[in-house]
Amino acid sequence: MCGIFGYTGKRKPAGILLEGLKKLEYRGYDSCGIALNTGQRLAVFKTKGPVSKLAGILRDRKIPACCCGIAHTRWATHGTPTRINAHPHLDCWKKLALVHNGIIENFAGIKKKIASEHKIKSSTDTEIIAHLIGGFLRKGLSKKRAILKTAAVLRGSFALGILFSDEPGVIWGVKKESPLMAGLGRGECFLSSDSVAMLSWTKKAVYLKDEEVARINPQGIEVFSFRGKKVFPQPVVIKQEAFSTEKGRFQHFMLKEIFEQPKVSAGILSRYAGRSEVWFGKGFLSRQAANKIRRIFIVACGTAYHAGFSSKYLFERIKGLSVEADVSSEFRYRKVDFNRNDLVIAISQSGETADTLAAVNFAKQQGCRILAVCNVENSALTRAADFVVYTLAGPEIGVASTKAFTAQMFCLYLIYLYIARARGSIVKEQETVFLAKAKKIPLLQNKILTQSLNQVRSIARQFSQYGCFLFLGRGINFPLALEGALKLKEISYIPAEGYAAGEMKHGPIALIDEYRAVVCLLSSDSLFEKMVSNMQEIKARKGKVLAITDRPSAVPKGLADKVIALPKISPEFFPLLASLPLQLFAYFVAKNLGRAIDKPRNLAKSVTVE
Ligand code: AGP
Repeated sequence: MCGIFGYTGKRKPAGILLEGLKKLEYRGYDSCGIALNTGQRLAVFKTKGPVSKLAGILRDRKIPACCCGIAHTRWATHGTPTRINAHPHLDCWKKLALVHNGIIENFAGIKKKIASEHKIKSSTDTEIIAHLIGGFLRKGLSKKRAILKTAAVLRGSFALGILFSDEPGVIWGVKKESPLMAGLGRGECFLSSDSVAMLSWTKKAVYLKDEEVARINPQGIEVFSFRGKKVFPQPVVIKQEAFSTEKGRFQHFMLKEIFEQPKVSAGILSRYAGRSEVWFGKGFLSRQAANKIRRIFIVACGTAYHAGFSSKYLFERIKGLSVEADVSSEFRYRKVDFNRNDLVIAISQSGETADTLAAVNFAKQQGCRILAVCNVENSALTRAADFVVYTLAGPEIGVASTKAFTAQMFCLYLIYLYIARARGSIVKEQETVFLAKAKKIPLLQNKILTQSLNQVRSIARQFSQYGCFLFLGRGINFPLALEGALKLKEISYIPAEGYAAGEMKHGPIALIDEYRAVVCLLSSDSLFEKMVSNMQEIKARKGKVLAITDRPSAVPKGLADKVIALPKISPEFFPLLASLPLQLFAYFVAKNLGRAIDKPRNLAKSVTVE
């Protein structure tokens, strides 16, 4: 996902734009650029590499006096990360500069059609949008008409920021499927793809809806539909707190966010389980409606999917309910006879993941109701859902999801409790016992972070020599094994596979030798002994074993090369504790290997393209 930021107002745009870009850089960071409107012309600066490099370029150059600007940080979809492919892109006559987030699916056909009339410099899909608008302007259309005509021929997702050289002080925004909002300040306005970029200056925002065009100047905003009809959106106050772009005492956002988990867990409990029962507020799924549910489909991507998959082991305890967990990109093609008694639980940290949004739209067309578990207010997912549970994790900047994962699981556990109680599947006493255990989690998470940090760092140093990892778990720890493997591979780039431990003997065991490491997750349940058997099979083949367990003394001596002991906890809560050492393990292995932890190669924080 790319980052878009624009500013118009009384202050010097360049500094503001750079500060906004820094807050968006976690979304995409292979290249970046800025366009400034000097009133006579558009001054464009762009580079491959991080925003800090662009700041250096701007420092070394004499920045012309200007009144507004747009900026962009890129996660490449079409065209490798180079200066030429970086945004903003210009039309042939340099009458406009444009930045884009999304993907133009019919760009090849358009490019072929306009190549004879326009000099196309980059290999991006974005540049053809600038040429289309420039071409319509050349034919005498107004800016608004040129934009609307261009939007009509584009297929795919696009959030655009546009400057016109002869319109100082004005920024245009266009929204279709990719997020875009305007920030309304005092005598200044902003354009952004993510509210986190503008919270330092304003919390008053207008979230553009799909197929809307905005014309923004320092006094405010005008909004039109793609049909050209004026619309009057209500500004909202963003509740999210501005987050510091500083990492405080931490070297990386990822480590800072790992350490925020006890506070996030406590926040979730106080918001949704402050009383003696679980409560998600008025307008949430009523107890009567909860009673009518026959099937639950859990859909999400990546880490969010692992959180949802974990919760399946709880939801399936509810009598008269069938539960499935699917990755969003598969769910949307299923041939199931859905109906209104089906509840789709869609999980997404960003609320902008294209695959999950597509799955939700598919489910809505089939008549399902949608419950969103999401971390970002006013995101596309929360606007599409019938019911929303916010994970209250605060902005997650590290691309590898950590606090959002445990927050999603925690919220799903409470949703399970709510639905189980509403259907009489558990009685009040059972709810009280469950909540009493849940309320211990923040303290136990804190204990793990303080007591295990040095041990995990030392184990990671030893294990970072291994060329391939298996993560094994059974039952509710199988999704956790998938998550542990994803965390390691996405920031260390070491091949890592999560597996149901029972499956190891059906193939993966061929991988085991003295150069491979296996992380085994053992909670104190009926599957503990079977996990011990897995460890014996691994040891018999000289594999290295790291055991993470809340029953360390029950692990036979010599069976595990290293053991990370956790506080004893009921098996269903084990993932909320074991996630932390898994995250720390991935972090320190990647750190040992000198990886770009907060911005791993090829990744983006939210994937808004399919
Ligand atoms: C998690 O570490 C990854 N960055 C990725 O798998 C992520 O969880 C996935 O893209 C889903 O994102 P979302 O939660 O914003 O929908």
